[in-house]
Amino acid sequence: MFLNSMNRKGHNFLAVRRLWHRHLTTGNTRGNLATTVGKREMAVDQDISNITLRIADKVDRNLHLQRGHPLNTIKSMIEGHFKQVSAANPKYQFECIDNLPPMVTTKQCFDELLTPPDHVSRKLSDTYYIDKDHVLRTHTSAHQTELMRMGKDAFLCTGDVYRRDEIDSSHYPVFHQMEGVKIFDPSELPSPSNPSSDESIEYVQQDLKMHLEGMVKAIFGDVEMRWVDAYFPFTDPSLELEVYFQGDWLEVLGSGVIQRKILGNCDLNHTNGWAFGLGLERLAMVLFDIPDIRLFWSDDPRFIEQFRPGEVTKFVPYSKYPPCYKDVSFWKPEGFHENDLCDLIGSVAGDLVETVELIDNFTHPKTNKVSLCYRINFRSMDRNLTNAEVDDLQGQIRGEMVDSLGCELR
Ligand code: DAH
Repeated sequence: MFLNSMNRKGHNFLAVRRLWHRHLTTGNTRGNLATTVGKREMAVDQDISNITLRIADKVDRNLHLQRGHPLNTIKSMIEGHFKQVSAANPKYQFECIDNLPPMVTTKQCFDELLTPPDHVSRKLSDTYYIDKDHVLRTHTSAHQTELMRMGKDAFLCTGDVYRRDEIDSSHYPVFHQMEGVKIFDPSELPSPSNPSSDESIEYVQQDLKMHLEGMVKAIFGDVEMRWVDAYFPFTDPSLELEVYFQGDWLEVLGSGVIQRKILGNCDLNHTNGWAFGLGLERLAMVLFDIPDIRLFWSDDPRFIEQFRPGEVTKFVPYSKYPPCYKDVSFWKPEGFHENDLCDLIGSVAGDLVETVELIDNFTHPKTNKVSLCYRINFRSMDRNLTNAEVDDLQGQIRGEMVDSLGCELR
């Protein structure tokens, strides 16, 4: 199934890889190569890997561990809440884990969580592959089974996660998640000899709801909440929690009762448990009034120096710099994927790109060729961009679109 996603036809895909390699290699063109990802040496299979230098540079930034950073404050608030929960019920001591490296196997990230073989999250268009068996984790759920196998029965696991995606104010190829798991002492379940009975599932689900509603209250105060049915391959039943905050229902987390098969694979057939996963940027943007996800990565002191460890305060914008947009129209090449374009634009212009939007899409009536037009909005968060600078970036993007994606510009 992995091969299917690699089998996109045409030269475009190969060309995309050439672009990535140009970012990663230093002239070495055969076999695996060691590249520095963050502070680590990582063997990247250059025939497969789609990790750009820009992404590799984010590994080990660990914003969630940086004291005073809003992501660290949110993490500490949630952990603090679960410490109180642990104090109130000493039988389950929630352990906080936040230092697991983001390089995981496809087994950890997908197979162990019962992600179907053809699921989009496994595709090269969506996930950063190191080689055919290793990825930069797409979610912290990737650590569920290893931690459960270690015998941990209550834990929170926080880390950076990586997804190839669109570019806008709430999407960034790296973000942070927290995973929570609780595995029950079977004697506590209503039917200890049958941990998967309806009553046991109901009991586990009620416990899950109680814990997560308590956590949301600890963070948002006394807000309205609602539970919504959901689907995740790794839980059954699955539910999402939404919070009514400043006039909108906001999806806060995904959760559910852990699939029997997953528990069984971890030698936990005799019991039951729940899991949840939440995105820290999402919560921090709402609580701290942070309007653009790129700000979390800013090393401008006017951003980071606004915040105090453990305190939620509203972000005060230091200035709004003018935007500048450029359109690019082209005939869509075979195998084109928007995420490839966004990664390319990100590689060239980094955090100077605010959004990438498809503004026109038409099929030529005679040739059936598809024409696409994207608008790239450039805006720095901490300074004015000059026209010359933006023209230069746009020129590089256009060149790479031709060379690496095989686009025929119009
Ligand atoms: N891993 C899911 C995601 O990234 C979130 C999630 C949902 C985690 C349900 C869980 C869960 O542990 O039970 O979207």
